[in-house]
Amino acid sequence: MKISKQVAKAYYTDAINRGICSSDKAVVFYSKDALDHQLNILKNTFPEQTMHAIAIKTCNHPKVLKHIVERGFGLEAASFEEVLLAKEAGIANDKIVFDSPVKTRNEILQCHNDFPGILLNANALEELSRYPENFNGRIGLRINPLVNNSGGAFFNVATANSKFGVPITKRQDIIDHCLQYESISCLHFHIGSNLTDLSPNIEAISKVATLAFEINTKRREKGISNQIATLDIGGGIEFDQERMEAFVKSLVQIPNIQEFKLITEYGNFIHKQNSFVVSHVEYVISNAADLAETVFIHVGADLFVRKVYSDLDIEYPCTVLHATPSASPRKEKSYNIVGPLCFAGDVLMRDIKLTEIEEGDKLFLYNTGANTLSMWSGHCSRTIPEFVFC
Ligand SMILES: Cc1ncc(COP(=O)(O)O)c(C=O)c1O
Repeated sequence: MKISKQVAKAYYTDAINRGICSSDKAVVFYSKDALDHQLNILKNTFPEQTMHAIAIKTCNHPKVLKHIVERGFGLEAASFEEVLLAKEAGIANDKIVFDSPVKTRNEILQCHNDFPGILLNANALEELSRYPENFNGRIGLRINPLVNNSGGAFFNVATANSKFGVPITKRQDIIDHCLQYESISCLHFHIGSNLTDLSPNIEAISKVATLAFEINTKRREKGISNQIATLDIGGGIEFDQERMEAFVKSLVQIPNIQEFKLITEYGNFIHKQNSFVVSHVEYVISNAADLAETVFIHVGADLFVRKVYSDLDIEYPCTVLHATPSASPRKEKSYNIVGPLCFAGDVLMRDIKLTEIEEGDKLFLYNTGANTLSMWSGHCSRTIPEFVFC
């Protein structure tokens, strides 16, 4: 659900009037209604038994996590630290999915001792021997289904030499391990983020479901009663409601899919549009009449790590809230929007057209809910922005 300029202004004005936002630098707003809207799409679109474990790495603010847990959703942890964040949010162990590719022996043991019922997806066959016998949680195995996808070099993790998952070409090895480690009850995959085309995900689900079916048949033949009962299909899809519905329509038609309980791990889809940032405009500087003016705000490469440190095309639309009214219509001008950090590359936007900006105005940046605050860099030791969950 997109947050409009009017709605953002209303949230901001309300927070100021109620005295819950006092920073003279930058404030991150996160809308509970927008979060509920996205969560409801998942709940109403997927088969009823699906467990949606929302990716903590995408937005790890404790208030947001607590709300997700209170709504009955699960959480996906990419590190042991995120398992602890999930616990602090009040979640039941059986709604945590722990996916780190570098779980230590000690972390696995702590899950065994302290979090009975938790699901750990092993990233490699080599990880399986680290689990105690009669492991107290559930064990999944991450498969790399080797499908082409549109995620690009930065996000595509389904490549031949990916660090994630066991390549599906090691089929016999996977089957042998699933016969040896009878308690493996889930197959997991995640092919990458920023996907614009849903067909590789459908292809991946088909491949992994067929593999799970084959493992179950082989287990039955060997008198092993444990089955692969769950498919964890990861996240990676950044769709609107209609395309998510189309995706699920294709998903439920995959042969044998009804035999498995599904888990999803969406991040971007849930969080991206729920948040906006308001920064005080500290200075507006003109270096030469023929150059764009420079607008200094209080967030840059510290909050927008992916945008500033990569050549990914990430857009954060922005608008200006002027501090003083103007009698005549304001002109549009070209601006470079720069952050507060001490290096030349700390530029958020170049040559963008905005209505004339002055010191003391507020710059609103939208669609800032995913992979921003959770990636806060701490460069120049600046304080993390105030957070309003509204
Ligand atoms: C294993 C796993 N699950 C889920 C996600 C969330 O992906 P997205 O935010 O693209 O939905 C990621 C992202 O990196 C991931 O690595």
